[in-house]
Amino acid sequence: MSDDPPEHRKPPRREFITGISAMVIGAAASVVPLAAGVAALLDPLRRRRSGQGMVRVTKLSTIPESGLPKKFTVRTDRVDAWTTYSDTPVGAVYLRRSPDGVAALNVVCPHAGCFVGLAPDKSRFACPCHKSSFDLKGVVDDPSSPAPRNMDTLEVEIRNGDEVWVRFQNFLPGRAEKTPV
Ligand code: FES
Repeated sequence: MSDDPPEHRKPPRREFITGISAMVIGAAASVVPLAAGVAALLDPLRRRRSGQGMVRVTKLSTIPESGLPKKFTVRTDRVDAWTTYSDTPVGAVYLRRSPDGVAALNVVCPHAGCFVGLAPDKSRFACPCHKSSFDLKGVVDDPSSPAPRNMDTLEVEIRNGDEVWVRFQNFLPGRAEKTPV
């Protein structure tokens, strides 16, 4: 006597395979639009990261000829995910006349992100949070400073004779190397 089930009780094999195939194709077909939707949803965020560029900060004539650094607010259009805010403060820089023209430093301390100030005698930069100290070029000048690197330099361009443009960028604090945010 055979143990095989009667013919009418056997699973319909062809239908089973056809059903599985349909499920796989259906799942694959739904993944593609889903991925495209997610990409479209995240697109403004990607554009925001790649949208950092030169920002006009001030006129050359406003920077002291003495070589002392002066602090300037950086204003530009800011894209926050899906919204654009026009002419908004996005940070600040110290600008200083240098033999090459103008040098720019981000005011944010590379230790933990506080705003670095000028020392009262204006001979150096001093961070109020944990006492990091930098010379006027932004170089750490006190070995006991907790800052893991110098202040962050930024690219500067003088355009049309008197316009000071800065490639404004923030960098991650707490690291020895400059890592753009
Ligand atoms: S944040 Fe500047 S020394 Fe800590």
